[in-house]
Amino acid sequence: MTMKILFIGDVVGSPGRDQLQHYLPKLKQKYQPQFTIVNGENAASGKGITEKIYKQFLEWGAQVITMGNHTWNKKEIFEFIDDAKYMIRPANFPEGTPGKGIQYINWNNIVIAVINLQGRTFLDPIDDPFRKADELIDEARKKTNIIFVDFHAEATSEKQALAWYLDGRVSAVVGTHTHTQTADERILDNGTAYITDVGMTGPYNGILGTEREAVLKKFLTNLPVRFEVTKEGKDQLNGVLINIDEKTGKAKDIKRILINDDHPFFS
Ligand SMILES: [Fe+2]
Repeated sequence: MTMKILFIGDVVGSPGRDQLQHYLPKLKQKYQPQFTIVNGENAASGKGITEKIYKQFLEWGAQVITMGNHTWNKKEIFEFIDDAKYMIRPANFPEGTPGKGIQYINWNNIVIAVINLQGRTFLDPIDDPFRKADELIDEARKKTNIIFVDFHAEATSEKQALAWYLDGRVSAVVGTHTHTQTADERILDNGTAYITDVGMTGPYNGILGTEREAVLKKFLTNLPVRFEVTKEGKDQLNGVLINIDEKTGKAKDIKRILINDDHPFFS
């Protein structure tokens, strides 16, 4: 039997949350995924997440929320992350960091492991995501062949490298963080689904979700500016849908999801 995982790319601020709330039920209706995973590290005004938003995402149909380099931006995270069973932050944060980097979920006795890792190229120098992946895959394999990895990273090379390193050992490696969807979705030789970046869910006309004026001022003058999420009304949703053989854990296909004014949603 084939099972489907729907993954939604970085939800940015209130425009992203509105898109998620609006489209998630429609996407579930259309594609009937058994599992839904959402990256929420930019969900609260572009940086971080609150407990209220975490709970809303679960209500709207996400089963696991993944995070990234902005995990700690909202101070209240420290108060709820250890109780947020279905939230994971990059597993290769240093030892002693609150929260966890792997979570198991199940549907009709099918268990999947979801792992969140963060890259080190052009990001903070944290622990080795490659060795951390080895360790977590060994652990997860005792429970399931279906392992999904959200690799939150900047460099395309690092993302491709991790995907090839894990090819055949996990069902999927999807990149997040850059907020720009790449068109390189494929199944690697040994059955791992891969995309360099899923993209983001939020403003369509900002610069990576941020108000254009502020970003342009930064580039044009190098003066300090305050980045805010664009709220001008044109928004988008980015995701991927992955079909996986339930027994072997190998991916059969990966499909990009792109909804915006130029690519309207059809039910
Ligand atoms: Fe990020």
